[in-house]
Amino acid sequence: MKAFEFACPTKIIAGAHALDKLPDELKDRGVSHPLVMTDAGLMKLGVAAKLTDVLDAADVAYDVFDQVPPDSSMDVVNEVAHLYEARGCDGFVAIGGGSVIDTTKGAAASLACEGVDFATLQGSEILHADLPPFVAVPTTAGTGSEVTLVAVVADTKKHAKLSFTSYKLVPHAAILDPALTSSLPPKLTATTGMDALTHAIEAYTSIQKNPVSDAFACKAIELIAQNLPRACAQGDDADARANLALASLLAGAAFSNAMVGVVHALGHSLGGLCHVPHGQAMMMLLPHCVRFNLYHGVHAGVYGELLAHLAPDRATELGPAAMPAERDLAFCDELFAMNERYHREYGVPLKLSELGVEHGQLAAVAKQARYDGAALYNEVEITLEDALEILEATY
Ligand SMILES: NC(=O)c1ccc[n+]([C@@H]2O[C@H](COP(=O)([O-])OP(=O)(O)OC[C@H]3O[C@@H](n4cnc5c(N)ncnc54)[C@H](O)[C@@H]3O)[C@@H](O)[C@H]2O)c1
Ligand SMILES: [Fe+2]
Repeated sequence: MKAFEFACPTKIIAGAHALDKLPDELKDRGVSHPLVMTDAGLMKLGVAAKLTDVLDAADVAYDVFDQVPPDSSMDVVNEVAHLYEARGCDGFVAIGGGSVIDTTKGAAASLACEGVDFATLQGSEILHADLPPFVAVPTTAGTGSEVTLVAVVADTKKHAKLSFTSYKLVPHAAILDPALTSSLPPKLTATTGMDALTHAIEAYTSIQKNPVSDAFACKAIELIAQNLPRACAQGDDADARANLALASLLAGAAFSNAMVGVVHALGHSLGGLCHVPHGQAMMMLLPHCVRFNLYHGVHAGVYGELLAHLAPDRATELGPAAMPAERDLAFCDELFAMNERYHREYGVPLKLSELGVEHGQLAAVAKQARYDGAALYNEVEITLEDALEILEATY
């Protein structure tokens, strides 16, 4: 066995009424005045209030920052760090999707380094100081950011999404409560769920995969296959929501250790340059990228190993005598078929042209994607022509 490392130090509190544990969790961590981070949409929907109600009932004083923009931004990260100090806060509670959690990671990291501009911490393992106490409460089941060592923050001036990776960025506790994702509409449920699926698949096929990340990835794929259609069809199916939240966390832990690949490399630059939402980008690109990898020499059979987790009926139909390449193709076909289903049933766009991306932007997207860190972990090297070929197929 090749030597490897795996870390998932976040305390996980999950299931029905998990949110009720928040006051104790803060108390145990010596937090008496947290800064609650969220976004305007979650305030309006009353999702953030579910958390502040719990704090009110326990007489915990807190401040709220509710202006996190989609995909976050460097300016907001620095603004939050100043607010935290001005209000004398002593910990963070982030309730929201990846944008809120990643913004919180950025502000917490900046504070850990005595208020330095977060931009100076860009890259891998640049941060060495411990974050202030940090509880993450995801309201999407997609990014897994509640357990990952990654923060992705947009630099709006440079039209790029910057990645920060450090073991120090991992939140200290994650609370997964199905009541917090029930308001997520079918389209967002599908696209964020496909982000989680992409994490699991890219972790399983990454050049940095290991047996533990594989186990997390396979379980995540199974849970997504079983529960994503249910959660889209019936938003308040608490069982499906709880399983999806868990899947997202498992996929997050898998890729936090194994890393992701070409789907994320292209998705980050589509987000930075064309403002395509992350989950949406993942969903459209995933089958095209898998097909690309298959035809450009990825290890035969590696995708096929996932078929039984994604589509057990199809795996049974193929039978034990099927060749690895046959399973690989069946896996790729299943991904295309899944996308078609979500397109038909919920109108999720499958083409970049449907999202207002100009054809003339593709060359710049391809160029930026080649320099994204995620491209390094894809088994097949991506040339500029390859990146363009995938984008054209998705256009
Ligand atoms: N740090 C990581 O490990 C990691 C991994 C993948 C992606 N990301 C980043 O995370 C960001 C995307 O996060 P996201 O996909 O969770 O979306 P998001 O946080 O941008 O939220 C998308 C929209 O969904 C709304 N929303 C969230 N929860 C809701 C709920 N329960 N009900 C109704 N509406 C709800 C939000 O208000 C927002 O309008 C991107 O910037 C992406 O690059 C980070
Ligand atoms: Fe992602």
